[in-house]
Amino acid sequence: MQRRARSWHRDGLRIAFVPTMGYLHEGHISLVHEARKRAGPGGIVVVSIYVNPTQFAPTEDLSLYPRDLPRDLFLCREAGVDAAFLPSDASMYPGEETGQFSTYVVEDRLSRGMEGASRPTHFRGVTTIVAKLFLCVQPDSAVFGAKDWQQAQVVRRMVQNLNFPIQVVVAPTRRDVDGVALSSRNKYLSPEERPRAVALVRSLDLCRKAVRRGVVAAPLLKARVRKEVSQYPSARLDYVEFFDPESLKPVRTVRRGSHMALAVRVGATRLIDNGRL
Ligand code: PAF
Repeated sequence: MQRRARSWHRDGLRIAFVPTMGYLHEGHISLVHEARKRAGPGGIVVVSIYVNPTQFAPTEDLSLYPRDLPRDLFLCREAGVDAAFLPSDASMYPGEETGQFSTYVVEDRLSRGMEGASRPTHFRGVTTIVAKLFLCVQPDSAVFGAKDWQQAQVVRRMVQNLNFPIQVVVAPTRRDVDGVALSSRNKYLSPEERPRAVALVRSLDLCRKAVRRGVVAAPLLKARVRKEVSQYPSARLDYVEFFDPESLKPVRTVRRGSHMALAVRVGATRLIDNGRL
């Protein structure tokens, strides 16, 4: 991958990169289209497909994570992707089995709250793999989905702090007809659970409406979200937070442009969503 990337750069081509864990859906394809724009005429779009073990806690769904490589490659080809990068565990974590993999990349501020508080080792895994993928693919730009808002900000901060010469682009969340954010994890939901996944987007809508009516106190809005989520059988609120979209600092009073994020378990499936208020 590095040899290829160097040769594309020597030929003066721009590389735009979409890192994924596979099981691609329309949301990923919209990132590919954004990458195509960023790569410019004749430029190269690279998609990586790699289910990264270090961003899963031992209690999480690594072995169950949905995979369908033939379908992913078909979708990549259809979307005009120039190269799919499919690294192996051995190439991403060399020496892991003998205890000789011991270098990680840690972003130590934006990673702490929300997803980081619920999943303490998650972002260390994300920043480590994204840094490694960047070093392999050597992109000029990399496209991330807004659904994982915190992840995108953590990666952006890592890129600034570590002087990666890469533009981080955040593309809008794609949604199903009922408003549920597209996610590979939606696949885990049973037919009874799937309609309950609207709890997240309904909570976002409810808060947007409340803010428009002048309800701006975060504790009050949180209580409303708690009540909303509790109405869906088998749905449990993990967290809801109101925050500044760049610093990710929680706010007690919601303003124009403040962001809201929440995580909800529907049965055994943990879903996240976020949006600007
Ligand atoms: O968002 C994802 O799919 C993953 O966290 C990423 C960025 C591909 C790193 O494994």
